[in-house]
Amino acid sequence: MRISRLEKIFVNNRRIAEKNIGIVERLFTQVDLGNVKRVLEVGCGIGVVASHLSEKYQWDVTGVDLDPEQIEIAKSDHPENEHLKFFEADTTELPFEDREFDLVLSFDVLHHIPDWDKALREINRVLRSTGLYLLNDLSLPKFTARIYKDCGVFSADDVINHLRENGLVIIYAEKSKANVFARLGRHFSIISQAEAA
Ligand SMILES: C[S@@+](CC[C@H](N)C(=O)[O-])C[C@H]1O[C@@H](n2cnc3c(N)ncnc32)[C@H](O)[C@@H]1O
Repeated sequence: MRISRLEKIFVNNRRIAEKNIGIVERLFTQVDLGNVKRVLEVGCGIGVVASHLSEKYQWDVTGVDLDPEQIEIAKSDHPENEHLKFFEADTTELPFEDREFDLVLSFDVLHHIPDWDKALREINRVLRSTGLYLLNDLSLPKFTARIYKDCGVFSADDVINHLRENGLVIIYAEKSKANVFARLGRHFSIISQAEAA
């Protein structure tokens, strides 16, 4: 689902982007990235994380987003090159072959996708065997998530269970600190790994 103009004011800015880069780099310390060459970021927004990864690691990075306006900004802020591509695509119907990517990332995207479980199945489909999926998102408290289940709302445990049911192994999980906003939702990060062939 496209995000509103108001949300774009909050999320399309350098401060959030720097924070996300910090989270990615911190999560990277938990895994072996030795086999990573092809990377996909779904819901890449204005492309800051994707561009950082291609510049710093020289990986071949593709950033996709449902919203053409976001992709336009990503392309104008981070000109495409042989290691960096951006285009429009829906995470629930990814235009890629099975097992194309060594690493997939999604940052604050899943809670915008009513069919989030379908999106997760697609991400799993495009991951090569033993490929990694890094997710950072908003989790509602379990009780609230249960009440709003039919609206596509999830808790961190729902996502973890779904990943496990689809054969991914959870290799790292963390929740942000509880604070006054935690009643509304807390950020969580998960690193999971696709099954060996
Ligand atoms: C809150 S923004 C996060 C953007 C970026 N990942 C970040 O952390 O700054 C959510 C992004 O997900 C995109 N999005 C929402 N639903 C999507 C879908 N089904 N497939 C791909 N992108 C989607 C939105 O257009 C938006 O750019």
